[in-house]
Amino acid sequence: MNKETNDAKILALAGKGGVGKTSLAAVIVKLLVENFPDKKVLAIDADPAVGLSTALGVNVETTIDDIRKEVVATAEDGDTKSAIELLGEARYKIFDALVEQDGFSFIAVGRPEAAGCYCKINSYLKEVISILAGNYDYIVIDGEAGVEQINRRVMEKITHLLLVTDSSKKGTQVVQTIKKVADDLVMYDKVGVVANRLPDLSVKEYMDCGDIPVLSYIMSDSSLAEFDLKGENVFYLSNDATIVKGMREALVNMGILN
Ligand SMILES: Nc1ncnc2c1ncn2[C@@H]1O[C@H](COP(=O)(O)OP(=O)(O)OP(=O)(O)O)[C@@H](O)[C@H]1O
Ligand SMILES: [Mg+2]
Repeated sequence: MNKETNDAKILALAGKGGVGKTSLAAVIVKLLVENFPDKKVLAIDADPAVGLSTALGVNVETTIDDIRKEVVATAEDGDTKSAIELLGEARYKIFDALVEQDGFSFIAVGRPEAAGCYCKINSYLKEVISILAGNYDYIVIDGEAGVEQINRRVMEKITHLLLVTDSSKKGTQVVQTIKKVADDLVMYDKVGVVANRLPDLSVKEYMDCGDIPVLSYIMSDSSLAEFDLKGENVFYLSNDATIVKGMREALVNMGILN
């Protein structure tokens, strides 16, 4: 591992389905791009169900899964080597899946066709993170719902683990489960909860996130519904929007922004 790799700040979002991981990941990218115009920012859509590209207004043509298929199909020794070995040899091809945007780069894991490929694509993700980390100052990973990517050590190299929950009991339970698994399997520097989409502030006292610090409480933001409706990306969101202010507070509390 080179020195640069060690310096990259890798932020990953995890949590129950539908709590706002993708929206918040996109808002983080927006905040990083606006606050650090001279830094290199990479957004990784690690959810096979995709979504981060839309939230960021990115047009995706090639995914990591497409590269995998291409590498396997063209390799003469494709039968004898595992796909991950082949991908390792074709490291430079990963860069073909990068989309360059104004102020940041984007890459999507993609959607494996057969259900059986699912864990394989997760192991590519790990490879991709280690290949690309040295080229970026900030990497934001929008994870799939649940604990699997943590469990499979896909995200073992992250520095900041953002556990997202809504005010539901299930949401806070998932957050605590992920934290427990991460404590065993992930070498993170900082962890915290982002409580998102809250109906009102009174739910604060009922939310049990165990010993995990809560970085911010973000109220339900009606401007998001309007954005969903119009299919607009987060760069059009005002910096006064509830979700942007709330996410900024979380990043300040994690020492990413000041
Ligand atoms: N603070 C908020 N206020 C209002 N709506 C929100 C808020 N945060 C997210 N949403 C909305 O909730 C829905 C789910 O959000 P999002 O897709 O970001 O969640 P997710 O955790 O990525 O879901 P999945 O697990 O399916 O990937 C979206 O319609 C989004 O616009
Ligand atoms: Mg999502």
